Amino acid sequence: MSHTRRDVMVGATSLGVGLALAPYAALSASEHPFALGVASGEPWPDGVVLWTRLVRDVRAPDGGMGPLPVEVTWEVARDERMSDIVRSGVTLAMPDVAHSIHLEVKGLEPARWYWYRFRASGVQSPVGRTRTAPAPGAALASSSFAAACCQHWMYGNWAAYRRMLEENIDFVLHLGDYIYESPSSSPAAVKQIVREVPFSVPKTLADYRGVHAFYKTDPAIQAVHSAFPWIMTWDDHEVENDYTGSSTERRLPRFELLQQRAAAYQAYWEHMPLRLAQRPLGPDAIMYRRFAFGDLIDLVMLDERQYRSVLPCPPAPPQRDRSRRVAIDDCADAFDPKRTMLGMDQEQWLAKCLSEPARARWSVIGQQMLFAPHFSRTKEDKLAIRTDGWDGYAASHQRMLDMIAARPNRDTLVIGGDIHAFIACDVPAKRDDLGSQAIASHVVIGPVSSRLGDHESLEASRPHNPHIKFADARRHGYTRCTLTRERALFEFRALDDVREANSSISTMASFETEWGKAGLRQV
Ligand SMILES: [Fe+2]
Repeated sequence: MSHTRRDVMVGATSLGVGLALAPYAALSASEHPFALGVASGEPWPDGVVLWTRLVRDVRAPDGGMGPLPVEVTWEVARDERMSDIVRSGVTLAMPDVAHSIHLEVKGLEPARWYWYRFRASGVQSPVGRTRTAPAPGAALASSSFAAACCQHWMYGNWAAYRRMLEENIDFVLHLGDYIYESPSSSPAAVKQIVREVPFSVPKTLADYRGVHAFYKTDPAIQAVHSAFPWIMTWDDHEVENDYTGSSTERRLPRFELLQQRAAAYQAYWEHMPLRLAQRPLGPDAIMYRRFAFGDLIDLVMLDERQYRSVLPCPPAPPQRDRSRRVAIDDCADAFDPKRTMLGMDQEQWLAKCLSEPARARWSVIGQQMLFAPHFSRTKEDKLAIRTDGWDGYAASHQRMLDMIAARPNRDTLVIGGDIHAFIACDVPAKRDDLGSQAIASHVVIGPVSSRLGDHESLEASRPHNPHIKFADARRHGYTRCTLTRERALFEFRALDDVREANSSISTMASFETEWGKAGLRQV
């Protein structure tokens, strides 16, 4: 049976981003080699990365593509109809990278939309849209982006991405937990299942490829990938829950965990629009890097998983609090200056980025965690911290706070994810003195679809955290960030119902900060 253009547009392009396909002959939708969509990322002033991964069978370990390279041609145009082609070429989709393409297109003009497409085996891909960054130092009055993270397939639909398509943004910032390697098995979690996953916990490269390919079949995320360039970093669930460096709570032999990490990193890179500089070599990959958007935004992206020291003082499993809370008095380890969140190389790189003369109006730090200190009280009324965030790495945290505090202007915005809540807060100069001067503004962006954090304990901890202006773990969504020369605005975009694929969205709360004055206020 012959299929029309319309059949194959389902999935990749039916979400209204104005894409079009050239006609082609009989080809069943399941054999469509672009079934995982197209994507772009890493916007630089002169170019971007264009991504796709060819598959014939999404569920097959090798994507059904076999052991041979496949020739792929590509085109970049200045118009949506692909008539004004400015760059084109031919490359190979190679079996050792799962027939993925990471094309670093150069020679483009800054601050401009482009459209692109691939062609393989006589089949044309959907047309994707991307945007280059403005030239470094070029005057830029404003820039908007959507920040997202934590998208467990099982616990929600991705209406957040459907709604993101309607935003007028320059790029998407993704802060990790793009995939979840494992379902939660508690009775409460089982009750919240919205969508099943057809895979078991991944360990090998083939396993992780399968998870990533499956996640990429969602039409909403494909559409957002094809509508905007993405800037991404990973968190723990791209490998395994709460892993740190080369250890996990399962206490796997280091050699085994490193092999698993190598597989997980490789599959992540293969499925994301990342540069060759981020391609893993074994269990190592350099994910910390820097972006510039004219004279407005200097963006550093951090990796808070690969180099960090083991979690401090884990309580014995039977008593383990799901949130990994421990009393400060019982956890001297958390304050050991030898323990690190970033690793020495990344920390030194960050120190250089933050100490050199400002390149742009705002210094934006994209990282995974809640960045402000957060205290609570145990049942015995002892002051407690969560050990898996910055609080479990207190000396490392204070060193980074000192770097920010030393900047001549209060121009730092820190964006985080991980804890499945929306949070707006000020970042105090001293982590052990919440009343100390605010040195940065911070938001935690809320989860796309993962199980929500513990709202009640967040509420109960509010009196111990006067620097936190807003905390809500009851809704899903993303955060729209709009930076102008004088102010930064963060809008918490919250879904009505994460179970609905087409849920509507609204702004739950908005916070702004004025350049030169650290600290958020609700608007
Ligand atoms: Fe998460």
